[in-house]
Amino acid sequence: MRRVNVAVVGATGAVGEEMMRVLEEVDFPVAKLVPLASPRSAGKEVEFKGEKIKVKELTESIFDEEDIEIALFSAGGSVSAHYAPFAAEAGAVVIDNTSHFRMDPEVPLVVPEVNPEDIAAWRNKGIIANPNCSTIQMVQALKPLDDIFGVKRVDVATYQATSGAGKSAMEELVTQMKDFFAFKLDESEHKKFPHQIALNVIPQIDKFMDNGYTKEEMKMVNETKKIMHKNIEVSATCVRVPVLRGHSEAVTVWFEQDVNADAAREALYNGKNIVVVDNPAKSEYPMPIMVVDKDETFVGRIRKDLYRDNVLHMWVVADNLRVGAATNAVRIAQKWLEMESE
Ligand code: A2P
Repeated sequence: MRRVNVAVVGATGAVGEEMMRVLEEVDFPVAKLVPLASPRSAGKEVEFKGEKIKVKELTESIFDEEDIEIALFSAGGSVSAHYAPFAAEAGAVVIDNTSHFRMDPEVPLVVPEVNPEDIAAWRNKGIIANPNCSTIQMVQALKPLDDIFGVKRVDVATYQATSGAGKSAMEELVTQMKDFFAFKLDESEHKKFPHQIALNVIPQIDKFMDNGYTKEEMKMVNETKKIMHKNIEVSATCVRVPVLRGHSEAVTVWFEQDVNADAAREALYNGKNIVVVDNPAKSEYPMPIMVVDKDETFVGRIRKDLYRDNVLHMWVVADNLRVGAATNAVRIAQKWLEMESE
């Protein structure tokens, strides 16, 4: 496969660092890697394939100057809004991890295990959007079940790690834990979250909308429909928990047809990049500590509803920085390159 010049925008951030790691691990055919960040980080070094590479400042003209073909963006919505069009204009395909372009009808929103064919629409704007971390792992688990039983409705409660809000949010949790052990938690600051996150759970991720749901919850509602090309009813409650890495989800799925746990388990076993861990007798089920650095989505606690034959419950866990961000972005890039090379 031909080698391509790849830029990582937000290369010093939690997701950007992970993107470079995944590119290296999958041996992505990189001709030149260009790490980009704010002027604060220009000149810092990042490591890629054993080489130290200097971070450059993100500018409007850098994509043209560096002859970039793939630009992976993860530096926040406003950065994508401003700079992604310059990357696209310079001829690169932008794979954007922020929410900025996700619901733009001209921009494909892709989870390669679910709707890889949508990548073809990248030419509309030169941009492919990477869905929200909680949406990605959920639709990956829904897809094999939808193929067999037909998903009608999903009720989900999430248990989301602090890394979803970036590096400084992880640091906020660690600092508060240290402050707790130093008996000064009451003096501890919170900037990234609306309340103390250590020893707490916060039923709010992002801002509240007029309908009483948060923006994060509405992302799960709207993105699921767009990715699965289906008017699935979704109701989400998104909760931040004091975990550093790995999002968990309690998912209740309503199907068109009756379902049983064994058939669902088998469908999930055969699902792409899904690992079933479901052995209650041995207390085996997915947990955030098991999924760190993993590129699969883990599913367990698969059981039928007590009252309805067409309802199933399951527990879905994945590394939000990988499956929910970097790995999905790199898988899109792999698929894009494959399609463009045909
Ligand atoms: P920098 O480290 O120079 O601030 P995280 O999600 O972990 O907080 O990381 C955010 C990433 O986005 C970092 O790499 C950060 O770079 C980058 N970033 C933030 N603001 C800008 C900006 N205005 N221009 C370019 N990169 C930015």
